[in-house]
Amino acid sequence: MLPQEIRENIQRLIEAAERPREQVINVFYILQKHYGYFSDEAVREAAALLKMTPLEVEEMATFYDFLYREPVGKFVIQVCDGVVCWMFHENSIFDYLCQKLQVCAGQTTADGLFTVLPTACIGFCDRAPAMLINGVFYGPLTPAKVDEIIAQLRSEHCDLVICK
Ligand code: FES
Repeated sequence: MLPQEIRENIQRLIEAAERPREQVINVFYILQKHYGYFSDEAVREAAALLKMTPLEVEEMATFYDFLYREPVGKFVIQVCDGVVCWMFHENSIFDYLCQKLQVCAGQTTADGLFTVLPTACIGFCDRAPAMLINGVFYGPLTPAKVDEIIAQLRSEHCDLVICK
């Protein structure tokens, strides 16, 4: 159930737009942030708020790489799958990450920390190969740099939850 405060914020956003559909992606992101991913409940809420059918919402939601229709980990790693990134490394950073974290594309690690997803060009071709983690850019990458980044994120997470 969507809290009233969030519902009202979304309604204000929609009312301020010339056409409600201008706010589609913003509304989707607000709902995704609340539910942790763009859940079935989020689809129904979005449809009701934007006066769209659930099918229309579903069609849009599955078009965007940054909307997650399944639960994701604390850190969502989006590895660029674009042509330039492929040209700048011999071994796939994506495959390396999957192997290191023992997941397949789209899966989340058993500890719930990392989800690995391929994505289209993220606009940092001059620093290929590249990836985003929760929207933060990393590149140019090598397997050693990936190791460092993952270790750093694990350590920050551990500090936050006081792992011993
Ligand atoms: S192709 Fe990877 S950032 Fe553009």
